[in-house]
Amino acid sequence: MQHDAVAVIDFGGQYAHLIANKVRRLGVLAEIRQPEDPIEVFERYKGIILSGSPSFASQGEDSDYTRAIFDLDIPIVGFCFGHQQIAEHYGGSLVHGGREWGKAMLHIVGDSPIFKGLGEVEQVFMSHYDSVVSVGPGFEEIGFSKKADGQDGHRFAAIANEELKRYGFQYHPEVDDTLNGETMFRNFVIDICGCSQDWNMEGFLDEEIARIQQQVGADGSVFLLASGGVDSTVAAAILGKALGPERLLMLHIDNGLMRKNESAEVVEAFEEVGLGKQLHFVDASEVFLEALKGVIEPERKRAIIGNTFIAVFEAEAKRLGIEDHLLGQGTIYPDTIETGGSKRADTIKTHHNRVPLIDEMIAAGKVVEPLADLYKVEVRELGEKLGVPHDLVWRHPFPGPGLGVRCLCSDGKRDDEGLDAVADQLAQTAEHFGIGAQVLPIRSVGVKADLRAYEHPVLLHGDADWNTLIEATSVITADIPGLNRCIWNLGPEMPSEVRPVKATMNRRRLDVLREADAIVMDALRRHGLYAKVWQCPTVLVPIEFVGGGGQPGGELIVVRPVHSARAMTATPVDLPGAVLADLRRQILKLDGVSGLAVDVTSKPPGTIEWE
Ligand code: XMP
Repeated sequence: MQHDAVAVIDFGGQYAHLIANKVRRLGVLAEIRQPEDPIEVFERYKGIILSGSPSFASQGEDSDYTRAIFDLDIPIVGFCFGHQQIAEHYGGSLVHGGREWGKAMLHIVGDSPIFKGLGEVEQVFMSHYDSVVSVGPGFEEIGFSKKADGQDGHRFAAIANEELKRYGFQYHPEVDDTLNGETMFRNFVIDICGCSQDWNMEGFLDEEIARIQQQVGADGSVFLLASGGVDSTVAAAILGKALGPERLLMLHIDNGLMRKNESAEVVEAFEEVGLGKQLHFVDASEVFLEALKGVIEPERKRAIIGNTFIAVFEAEAKRLGIEDHLLGQGTIYPDTIETGGSKRADTIKTHHNRVPLIDEMIAAGKVVEPLADLYKVEVRELGEKLGVPHDLVWRHPFPGPGLGVRCLCSDGKRDDEGLDAVADQLAQTAEHFGIGAQVLPIRSVGVKADLRAYEHPVLLHGDADWNTLIEATSVITADIPGLNRCIWNLGPEMPSEVRPVKATMNRRRLDVLREADAIVMDALRRHGLYAKVWQCPTVLVPIEFVGGGGQPGGELIVVRPVHSARAMTATPVDLPGAVLADLRRQILKLDGVSGLAVDVTSKPPGTIEWE
């Protein structure tokens, strides 16, 4: 069935996925599109939404896209950068200035249908440097802003040309701080574009089953990589329903990067739901560890893990005589889009299910990915509908490369080039907040202004309250170059020395990490926090804390509890003192651990994982 759909053009802002999610919540299919997609792609949509961007429209940045969209007889709305594009395209003008950040009040003028059902004044969320200062013929101001404290804000916070059905909002209706953003989306998508609300999980399930049956053919079968995580388990459930149990085989690979006892538990869980016979298990931990031997660079580790998965998968298919089976994967929509070849998106990290080898297999039609169009929240909804056990559906997300991205490696040399230059600035900032701070001589991956940032973490120490830590982190990572994360020391005092440790991937280090991770997961469950925290990676960092409260010669463990809705952004979680005390008591005792800290960085600038 063809659905009415809306295109969300992703100009590289942080919130394009949030926009698509909000539209889908209305029961209307929204798809992310790239600005340079050919015009024919856009013709089939009933509406187009232009996202925000890190570029400055006033400087003409990023102006080279498929502008023929403006000639289509399809309603268009733009947010922030998208708003400025619309204003300028139709003869308005922009300035580099008028920065607004955070909550503002939108004063609505006139009675545009896009504001149907709203009050005269609405709280909205602003985040921009550029502003619209005039509009062209046929356009009018339908809203201006005032600051939350009542001071003057800006004209042209919302504009419209009702005849052409072109709208622009300087603010972000997709962000929850725009309190009635959902009504604005509804007015645009349902009333102005005329979309039917016919996209839902029941419908998706029926259509996807038909699509899988067609792709696999009457005689074909699928061999699915089953990690035991949410995505691959829901993929197994839908494939089983589409093809019947005899045509679905699954492979669980122990890559040596799983959590403590995890592979055994996955095998047991499949047996419990009656799928034990279809699940093959292979212990390939030696193969993975051999391939990763001596490797330090994070992106190389990711590539090796992705390629080794395929090598093991192919060897296993050969051994079982099922090389004709299609490869099944639980890839979800953000994985596909983020590595989808957008000119604008920087490669923050390569997902293991999108290494070039797999791209080639996809091009040859050899891969089935039943969830490739869904977001995590939708996968969970589908999982519940398919009767996948509740605990499994609500497991914390676990990355495909497993503990591989949480076990950092180092050649043992100090990686602190250029850090002297920021020492004074860091010391002054720390003093201002009444805490101690020192830069760590290693790096981790982060994301700043939509670009990959491979920079240094800062260790904070002191009795500061949570808000002070968050504020200090925000100032340090925004104002001091080369720093992308802050961690808060849980040891009794600031270490007298921090020494890089020469360390690559090996079983001993992974066992230390597994043990610490098991302690963290157990503490979250015992304190009733597992369901409240979205994800909580535990990371092994090759740095020895001398006087860090742990074992001499050991490394640093960092705990990273976050809240997130869609993993594109995240906020750190303030774990209660009793939990921290538990972690301190148990983890600092472990052989191989010299220090313990909790990551207090949001995403951006820190990614959720450290690599
Ligand atoms: P980051 O670290 O980019 O992570 O903030 C966002 C979310 O994605 C998960 N993640 C992965 N999941 N394959 C996956 O299936 C991967 O290669 C991968 N890398 C990160 C991460 O755990 C978090 O939930």
